[in-house]
Amino acid sequence: SPSDPDLVERARAAKEKLGNKVFVLGHHYQRDEVIQFADVTGDSFKLARDAAARPEAEYIVFCGVHFMAESADILTGDDQKVVLPDLAAGCSMADMATAEQVAECWDVLTEAGIAEQVVPVSYMNSSADIKAFTGKHGGTICTSSNAKRALDWAFEQGEKVLFLPDQHLGRNTAVRDMGMSLDDCVVYNPHKPGGGLTVEQLRAAKMILWRGHCSVHGRFSVQSVNDVRERIPGVNVLVHPECKHEVVAAADHVGSTEYIIKALEAAPAGSKWAIGTELNLVRRLANRFAPEGKEVVFLDRTVCFCSTMNRIDLPHLVWTLESLAEGTLVNRIEVDKETEAFAKLALERMLALP
Ligand code: 13P
Ligand code: SF4
Repeated sequence: SPSDPDLVERARAAKEKLGNKVFVLGHHYQRDEVIQFADVTGDSFKLARDAAARPEAEYIVFCGVHFMAESADILTGDDQKVVLPDLAAGCSMADMATAEQVAECWDVLTEAGIAEQVVPVSYMNSSADIKAFTGKHGGTICTSSNAKRALDWAFEQGEKVLFLPDQHLGRNTAVRDMGMSLDDCVVYNPHKPGGGLTVEQLRAAKMILWRGHCSVHGRFSVQSVNDVRERIPGVNVLVHPECKHEVVAAADHVGSTEYIIKALEAAPAGSKWAIGTELNLVRRLANRFAPEGKEVVFLDRTVCFCSTMNRIDLPHLVWTLESLAEGTLVNRIEVDKETEAFAKLALERMLALP
């Protein structure tokens, strides 16, 4: 349980025994009981950048989800072993684009005669296979904190973008940050022949959005925004760009988890904030900023955890650290060499974005 002092002590002791051999990364959506043991916390961009910061660490324990651990493996040395404390910590959005489906989509674009103009841009929240596809076809990875820069870069390389797998981040960035219209975007449905699009639609589109989404952020609605504004006059509504377009359009501010934290740090005392992202983070921020007189509430009335992020709990972390401290490697995440080479190309393009 979160407050079990015995488990806290066991995690502390195992981590101390491992010393410099272990480097623990924690995504902002992790539970408090886990985040307290992270050497570095961050959004997915920061964690990808910092994964390689400790080349002397033999083990990188990634408290986050599977695609983040894969990315850390791709970006770190061959002798460094990336460990995910619960192998069932996946991401339903990443699962919405498989290698087979994306290869089929590329065939559709090729048959429509537009593949040569298309640059793939894949959200970090995707499998290593999808990142490899992206690298192979001259594209880049992006996260919610650099999606505009990734699209700027992509439109210098080609005339169209295939954006995988989050349609909302793709649409929100295109419309909100790039000045495109909703009509410039089409949605490719991998479950329909030809993506459910005509050749004319594909040829006319600037942004071909994969039909994927995050079910956690999909729960926020315009109604949630209107309700909170009624309940808390003067409230600032700040949401993650994985929210639906109409929610982002109704909000006051939009940004990644790291952006959300920075915005609250910079906010004046007495200000009020409704945050539309995962609940572990929002609760932690509410507790952290209450003493400074900043009111932070969750955007919706229903509970909204990311169930896979939540799979990493203190018992799993203790088991992982104790196993490693005893010299037993558990739950290693290892991307095969060929996939890694192409996926790394795409990730490095992201890391090199201006
Ligand atoms: P951030 O990059 O903003 O941390 O988002 C990661 C994620 O999975 C959001 O659902
Ligand atoms: Fe995936 Fe959504 Fe969870 Fe982020 S919040 S890890 S996108 S399911």
